[in-house]
Amino acid sequence: MSCLRSSWVMLIAIAAFVIPGGHPQAYASAQTVQTQDNLTEEQMRDFLLKAQVVGSKQGGKGVTSPYRLTLKDGNMVHDGSFQAVDEQKTSRQFDNGKTEANFRDSYKYNIAAFEVAKMLGLGDMMPVTVERKWESKIGSLSWWLPVMMDEEKRLSKHTEPPDRNAWNKQLNKMYVFAQLVYDTDRNAANLLISENWHLWMIDFSRAFRIYASLENPKNLVMCDRQLLQNLRQLNAAELEQKTKKWLTKDEIKGVMARRDKIVTFFDDLIAKKGEQAVLYD
Ligand SMILES: Nc1ncnc2c1ncn2[C@@H]1O[C@H](COP(=O)(O)OP(=O)(O)OP(=O)(O)O)[C@@H](O)[C@H]1O
Ligand SMILES: [Mg+2]
Repeated sequence: MSCLRSSWVMLIAIAAFVIPGGHPQAYASAQTVQTQDNLTEEQMRDFLLKAQVVGSKQGGKGVTSPYRLTLKDGNMVHDGSFQAVDEQKTSRQFDNGKTEANFRDSYKYNIAAFEVAKMLGLGDMMPVTVERKWESKIGSLSWWLPVMMDEEKRLSKHTEPPDRNAWNKQLNKMYVFAQLVYDTDRNAANLLISENWHLWMIDFSRAFRIYASLENPKNLVMCDRQLLQNLRQLNAAELEQKTKKWLTKDEIKGVMARRDKIVTFFDDLIAKKGEQAVLYD
């Protein structure tokens, strides 16, 4: 997959500069991996599926926080984020007082989101993610990315991206994708930024609600021309074939229904404002 190949080239080019002083294994991995250019999605996938786990550390405070695993295969070492959460509740109350019916938080959605992103040409905005068993738990395992900061930090520090227009183009792709997969947790800590201001989307464990409506249509402002084209062509049978291991039939139906809504929304907007104001390349 060429987009992933190029993102990998970019990723290795910056990896060595990102982590000094940070996680020691990650630094070692950046150096080791740096010598292996042209890693394809298949190679990363293979590594994530087969490499031996040689280290682990749980990330945040919560019980559902993912583990940062260090993996080794031959002379290659790299980290991955392992998330095994798989919860279902008829109703869940949040700290802000809101409740959500049919709440689900599942590692399965991390894998499904990556599969859907690839179908839409957005594979280079997400880490390669596979299903993997570790310590008798099944979960998602994502390629560890070289991160300069996350969007939460960028906003709190009022750091302006060097190219605002290019940045907005990435944000708009993310907003469209978040509406498609009905992500209820697209918070700024789930947006990671690498040294060259590439935007990565992680953590879709609370996405894929079954609703046909859009979660927040106000977030739809402009759309990448190719992305809109790919949305038009999104095929239900292919989507099912690629995601049925992780999504229910109703969750897949939800994606297709929201796809229709997003396409109609942008077609209407183009009719009103003109293509120039809505689509970008
Ligand atoms: N693939 C990755 N590459 C680099 N950093 C990552 C990756 N995955 C996760 N992280 C880091 O770990 C943090 C927590 O990961 P994640 O967002 O998946 O879980 P969480 O928000 O703690 O879990 P929950 O879904 O329970 O809210 C991220 O904000 C990010 O800083
Ligand atoms: Mg998160």
